[in-house]
Amino acid sequence: MTLQVDDAAALRQAMVATLREEGLITTEDVATAMNTVPRHDSAPGEPLDRVYQTNTTLVPKIDAQGRQTSVVSASHIQAIQLEQADVQPGMNLLEIGSGGYNAALIAEIVGRTGSVTTVDIDADVIARARAGLQRAGYEQVYVVHADAEHGVPDHAPYDRIIVTVGAWDIPPAWLDQLTPDGRIVVPLRFAGITRLIALDHTPDTPMLTASNYRLGSFVPMQGDGAAHEQLIAVTPDVGLRLDQNSELTFNVPALRKALNTKAVEGWSGTPFDMPDELELYLLTAGPEMPMLHAAQAAIEQGVVNRTVRTGTPALVRGDTFAYRIKRENPETISGFETGVIAHGPQAEQVGAELLNMIRAWAGRYYRRGAARITYHPNPADTSGLIGWHTTKRHGDLAIDWS
Ligand SMILES: C[S@@+](CC[C@H](N)C(=O)[O-])C[C@H]1O[C@@H](n2cnc3c(N)ncnc32)[C@H](O)[C@@H]1O
Repeated sequence: MTLQVDDAAALRQAMVATLREEGLITTEDVATAMNTVPRHDSAPGEPLDRVYQTNTTLVPKIDAQGRQTSVVSASHIQAIQLEQADVQPGMNLLEIGSGGYNAALIAEIVGRTGSVTTVDIDADVIARARAGLQRAGYEQVYVVHADAEHGVPDHAPYDRIIVTVGAWDIPPAWLDQLTPDGRIVVPLRFAGITRLIALDHTPDTPMLTASNYRLGSFVPMQGDGAAHEQLIAVTPDVGLRLDQNSELTFNVPALRKALNTKAVEGWSGTPFDMPDELELYLLTAGPEMPMLHAAQAAIEQGVVNRTVRTGTPALVRGDTFAYRIKRENPETISGFETGVIAHGPQAEQVGAELLNMIRAWAGRYYRRGAARITYHPNPADTSGLIGWHTTKRHGDLAIDWS
């Protein structure tokens, strides 16, 4: 049966109900906006039932290399970002990365006393967003075709900047165009992963402090702020991803050999739960680790464990490496247990080192939001920073687990 536009209101209600049940919509303003804005107006050609699923991206644009450069984001990510941003009636907002729907949601929340600007680097996306906003009745949104690395000074200052594209850094223009008590919600890329971070000015200092962070991924930023991560191929199907500013080097032939040796497994006795929190800890609390990635073929052939499918931190020590795995274990709270698998001549030692880190996380940080994330714009005084930090183009990102 083909669904008609008349069915959209019921589908919207179901979408909102699901997002509430999942704890992703927590405020009435976001619920009302998502119940009101016709998402299908920004998704021409997409079937109505797909449009109102909570985890489906729409109208993807693919470049010549087969990579996605634009989508209308999944509604669960949009709900998370809107809640993170704490958008209020009357505010002036900048959305970076357009699609139409999300800007309409923001316009619905800020109301006629507020103002919304959305900016995209891609002329096709701008045309589609403009048409979608018009169809849905949100012509008041300013739609700007530009590289958002430089913000949109014409409509600044903004109470909130919601970045809907994977950013590697926080360019000075965004901070210059933010009100003193403003907030930036940004999918920030570091150490080979992305976290959706809500950053606020910190009174009496130039630094920004995260009020919360969540898991989420986005298409990467293009233009002047584009990142260039390093991918080191161990085999044609298995690789190590490093941040663009990493200076780690590897003995690739030795690691390739290690991959073909029998693996050693070890188990931590701790629950496998909140893997995104554990991942953040492993990447920022100890020795620098690359992210291990593998093609489906390597997983199907059993070369690497299936937990590598979406990438996992790997502890590499010379000719040996280890990464975390999981197994069912009804005796843990989550019903699963975290373990490690290690390949190479030092597999016992390197596996034990990683297991110790996993146990340390489970013992001290087994909860959401345990990391303290700050950003220090240039000229940053990082002399007093404790814990992990990484130097980006426009400042330093720091993550403290103390
Ligand atoms: C995930 S989509 C945005 C989704 C949108 N906010 C929505 O309503 O669902 C990310 C967008 O960011 C855009 N983009 C990438 N780099 C950009 C840049 N430097 N400046 C502005 N837009 C950029 C892409 O063209 C793409 O359309």
